[in-house]
Amino acid sequence: MSELSQDMTEFVRGLPKAELHLHIEGTLEPELVFRLAHKHAVDLPHPTVEALRRAYQFSDLQSFLNVYYAGADVLRDADDFHALTAAYLRKAHEQGIVHVEIFCDPQTHIPRGVGLDAVFGGIHRALLEGETQFGISWRLIPCFLRHLSAADAMHTLQAILPYKHLFAAVGLDSSESGNPPAKFAEVFARALSEGLPAVAHAGEEGAPAYIREALDVLKVRRIDHGVRCDEDVQLLDRLARERMPLTVCPLSNVKLKVFERMADHNLKRLLERGLCVTVNSDDPAYFGGYLLENYLAVQRALGLSRAQILQLARNSIEASFLAQSDKSRWTALIDQHAR
Ligand code: HPA
Ligand code: ZN
Repeated sequence: MSELSQDMTEFVRGLPKAELHLHIEGTLEPELVFRLAHKHAVDLPHPTVEALRRAYQFSDLQSFLNVYYAGADVLRDADDFHALTAAYLRKAHEQGIVHVEIFCDPQTHIPRGVGLDAVFGGIHRALLEGETQFGISWRLIPCFLRHLSAADAMHTLQAILPYKHLFAAVGLDSSESGNPPAKFAEVFARALSEGLPAVAHAGEEGAPAYIREALDVLKVRRIDHGVRCDEDVQLLDRLARERMPLTVCPLSNVKLKVFERMADHNLKRLLERGLCVTVNSDDPAYFGGYLLENYLAVQRALGLSRAQILQLARNSIEASFLAQSDKSRWTALIDQHAR
């Protein structure tokens, strides 16, 4: 590594950062897949860790989701969810992440007979340990799978409500095209009446109209991905004016062919237009990098300045569900890295 890129790596690592778009099931590394498959006597279609990793080639969102849902099948008990989350938090700490907002997909686990006590109990135990060991604060955001029906989402909401003291919000993920946010209007209205605000994936593969729907119908507090907003100038103006956060995931976008090459990514243009853009890792075990690698990949490909990197870190804190006092404290610490 050149001295300059070593410098940049240490600069980004040293900045306090929040990660706001991270599917915990997407942190399942092939090594853990094999360990859990052995533990539960599950047959795997790939003979080795290397063969499994080589299979992580995707042509679009759906081709990834098929592999991702299949992989999650080895997660069976509370210890599995704990191990998954603990491994992620260790990595997050090494990369200078001070606050995490983690997605999980209850509907990936409920039909397999995995209880919610195992899912939320295992994740929660690791989050509490991460807070003590590393000082990482956290929020948890269960997501509804949009390729399933609104009725299924409503049942799921009812099933997870006993755990709502653990949640900062509810989210919406999975196959976007053909599954617009408005399909889940009632579910998100009910969640809001229970004190749970909304976030939603929109404008990853779906049209800018899905971003508008997420804002106007689901009343989201931020947009996950949202990169297709730049096809609609009025929407761009609105997102900038409202400082509506976008949780952008650069390596994911290239792996799933939302952008052909990192050099084509619109993150820098959106940032320069005044949008509250953040950098995140989405499903790092599948997309070839965690948060630090995402920052470095866009920095290199788009030539981001140190001032722009600082802005991305500040945005990550601003866009979080942290209390204002915590936001002010982290922002002051980030500002100390400006020179
Ligand atoms: N988009 C939609 N659903 C997902 C993603 C994503 O990037 N990652 C995990 N589930
Ligand atoms: Zn995502």
